Amino acid sequence: MDKARLALIGAGVIGKRHLEAIASVAHVELTGIVDPFQGARQIAEQHGVPIFADTGDMLDHCQPDGVIVATPTEHHLVPTLESLEFGAHVLVEKPIMATVEEARKTAAKADAVGRHVLVGHHRRHYALVNQAHNIVRQGQLGQLVGVVGHWNLRKHADYYLPDWRKKWQAGPILTNLIHDMDLLRYIAGDIVSINAETSNAVMGFEKEDAAALVLKFKNGALGTFLLSDQSHSPWGWEQATGENMSVPRTGRNAIRFMGTEGSLEFPNLKIWNSEGTPDWRAPLESNDMAETLEDAYINQINHFSDVIKGITAPCISAHDATDTLRATLAVYDAAESGQRVML
Ligand SMILES: NC(=O)c1ccc[n+]([C@@H]2O[C@H](COP(=O)([O-])OP(=O)(O)OC[C@H]3O[C@@H](n4cnc5c(N)ncnc54)[C@H](O)[C@@H]3O)[C@@H](O)[C@H]2O)c1
Repeated sequence: MDKARLALIGAGVIGKRHLEAIASVAHVELTGIVDPFQGARQIAEQHGVPIFADTGDMLDHCQPDGVIVATPTEHHLVPTLESLEFGAHVLVEKPIMATVEEARKTAAKADAVGRHVLVGHHRRHYALVNQAHNIVRQGQLGQLVGVVGHWNLRKHADYYLPDWRKKWQAGPILTNLIHDMDLLRYIAGDIVSINAETSNAVMGFEKEDAAALVLKFKNGALGTFLLSDQSHSPWGWEQATGENMSVPRTGRNAIRFMGTEGSLEFPNLKIWNSEGTPDWRAPLESNDMAETLEDAYINQINHFSDVIKGITAPCISAHDATDTLRATLAVYDAAESGQRVML
């Protein structure tokens, strides 16, 4: 295969980001767009590809090798299953599906038809995320003891004008925490239990303003995480990295990983350790590692092309993303029941 033939379903905010990435990658080509709404016609014209209202028509006409599903989450399932059934590989946006049942159905279909599903947890395509994974997993911090994480920023008031954004499904747990939950799982390992509290004391909407989590990892490490979309703070992935152009970069850490022999600030990748026996008498020093923030969406399209060509397996598969979704949804159950939720 020379160029992987791609199609996009859902040309909204993130769909357009995928279109930009496709245009920057030489060995893929866009063949069509599915989006039943008015504005999408012009986007298809700009990209010189046909527009379809129906996924089946697009599959018949375009014969894509890979399909990107970037519809609203509650509309991920049908186009994903149709594309897999047709024989295409799928890159589906995060969260993989709206429910764990739908996610499991997706993974089972992909296995049954022998096609891959790559899930759009785009942060996995940054070199610094993979460096952190290697530092922790290869034992540079010794045995992992604990993790303390933050995602705390204050979204602008207009963001919450549409009524659907006031609902629980649009709250920061499912919109934002899911990215950090995926990072925690990828870097620190599988999560076995979650306790949580949520609060809506600032805005009073159905969606939460804040959540506090206690996590236990399979390797025995413990973690805490504080999330809020109503706190004006420098601590969170977006502020740390400057990935989102609307959020000024602070360069501060958002998550700290602590082990028996040293600690890691993330995502600024500052490692703290010492010479000799690593106990409280040893002066700690930090080594700053080179920070590079590439375009994760371009990396993701390159990776999807490799998956389609059989060069590699998805770095985050449907099974893996189902576990991230399950852990994220467990936060609601833990907060509502006041009980520890076992995963
Ligand atoms: N990776 C990330 O950081 C990230 C960021 C934003 C959004 N997302 C995810 O991407 C998905 C889309 O979010 P968005 O913000 O781009 O939404 P959006 O509302 O901006 O865009 C969705 C698009 O899908 C189209 N659409 C709706 N139903 C459709 C259907 N049945 N078939 C084809 N097209 C349909 C709409 O017309 C719209 O153009 C969500 O799952 C969201 O969670 C991921």
